[in-house]
Amino acid sequence: MNKSELRKLIRNKRRNLSLRRRQSAARGLLSTLRQSSQFMAGKRVALYLSNDGEIDPQLVCDDLEQRGKQVFLPVLHPLRKGHLSFIRYTRNSRMKRNRYGISEPDFRFGQHANARYLSSVCLPLVAFDQRGNRLGMGGGYYDRTLEFMHQPGHKPALIGCAYEFQQLPQLPAEAWDIPLTAIATEAAFRRF
Ligand SMILES: Nc1ncnc2c1ncn2[C@@H]1O[C@H](COP(=O)(O)OP(=O)(O)OP(=O)(O)O)[C@@H](O)[C@H]1O
Ligand SMILES: [Mg+2]
Repeated sequence: MNKSELRKLIRNKRRNLSLRRRQSAARGLLSTLRQSSQFMAGKRVALYLSNDGEIDPQLVCDDLEQRGKQVFLPVLHPLRKGHLSFIRYTRNSRMKRNRYGISEPDFRFGQHANARYLSSVCLPLVAFDQRGNRLGMGGGYYDRTLEFMHQPGHKPALIGCAYEFQQLPQLPAEAWDIPLTAIATEAAFRRF
């Protein structure tokens, strides 16, 4: 199967999960991430709002906020085409829908984070493999934004968040794909 066929198949499966399975997986994701002392030690964490059936990190968001951590969300960069910016998210954030219909903090008002200095970035994904390769939705947004991971210097941990069924034996890794540090699912934390 090629990448676009794989995306279609897994995205369909993801969207068809029952509410019950979604909720139980969201609780599982929280308990998986809580087992990682590196993740829990971070003070500035980028999450995402669940879309297209993605495993939902909302409980993780609430948990981090209760611990006094700062949560950031990806926002389509209005000037740098194909790039994301990370903006602080709190219950008072002014939100708007981007061109994909995904809710994001308003670029004009929130506090911007330099992605290099985030502790962790949690990335949604369509599929992952046992080597930490990630298949996203196909826009290349995270790959472009996280290109600095190839350079020396400070870097965040990149944690792919997914359901167990999104694991495939092997994914084609493209030259521009940024490999993940770890994958957190409802059942396990895998480091690469
Ligand atoms: N660093 C980059 N510089 C230029 N183009 C890039 C870069 N990274 C990705 N792209 C372009 O983006 C397109 C989509 O990339 P890819 O198929 O890896 O998306 P994805 O990882 O599934 O998406 P996303 O990162 O948004 O979840 C590619 O065809 C590639 O040309
Ligand atoms: Mg990619």
